[in-house]
Amino acid sequence: MTPRIAPSILSADFSRLGEQVRVVEEAGAGQVHIDVMDGHFVPNLTMGPVVVEALRSTTTLPLDVHLMITDPEDYLESFIKAGADHISFHIEAEGDKGAMLDLLEERGVGKGLAVNPATPAEEILEFLPRLDMVVVMTVNPGFGGQDFLGDNLDKVRRIRQEEEKLSLEKKLNIEVDGGVDRGTIGACLEAGADIFVAGSAIFGAADPGAATRELIELAGS
Ligand code: DX5
Ligand code: ZN
Repeated sequence: MTPRIAPSILSADFSRLGEQVRVVEEAGAGQVHIDVMDGHFVPNLTMGPVVVEALRSTTTLPLDVHLMITDPEDYLESFIKAGADHISFHIEAEGDKGAMLDLLEERGVGKGLAVNPATPAEEILEFLPRLDMVVVMTVNPGFGGQDFLGDNLDKVRRIRQEEEKLSLEKKLNIEVDGGVDRGTIGACLEAGADIFVAGSAIFGAADPGAATRELIELAGS
């Protein structure tokens, strides 16, 4: 799979969200990353299914929903109905992970598992054969614009090694999330990531379209 840039709307201007998403879509972004926070799993509150629904009618890009919430099981259905194409929940969250993956599979939604910096890769390895994507957090989740925690790239390498051993039918996507910008994307690519979330590096830039194009070029996609 060719590398994909996933602009995170967390850093977008919400008063003109549709327009901002159109700009990154035209610039070649591969998917839109939507950060859902519940004020409990992480110390911040953001958006819910209504935002996913609104975006569904303004873009044809896949909607990549990242749930940073304690009880993802209670909300999967709402996000699916709102039009999510991929949903990732955290290994550190509550609930029956296998049952959640069953539901996503049944509904034809991309299945992602996210892993925080403090959690070792080993915790998620048993789920790899069932996943479409692993989200390796390269910041502690909760806020945009934090410094990149490069040690987590070892986790990307470890997951790729394990993937090789398993000889899976379909290549696993590894998304890196947090602190990805023109200075850090090269190391992420080299470690084996193929989806790059960028919030402040894109929507914090004077020209989000140009910032998207630069990251696409650096990722060689
Ligand atoms: C962090 C979120 C990220 C965030 C990334 O909790 O999961 O997706 O928007 O923002 P930047 O790219 O600014 O680090
Ligand atoms: Zn995210």
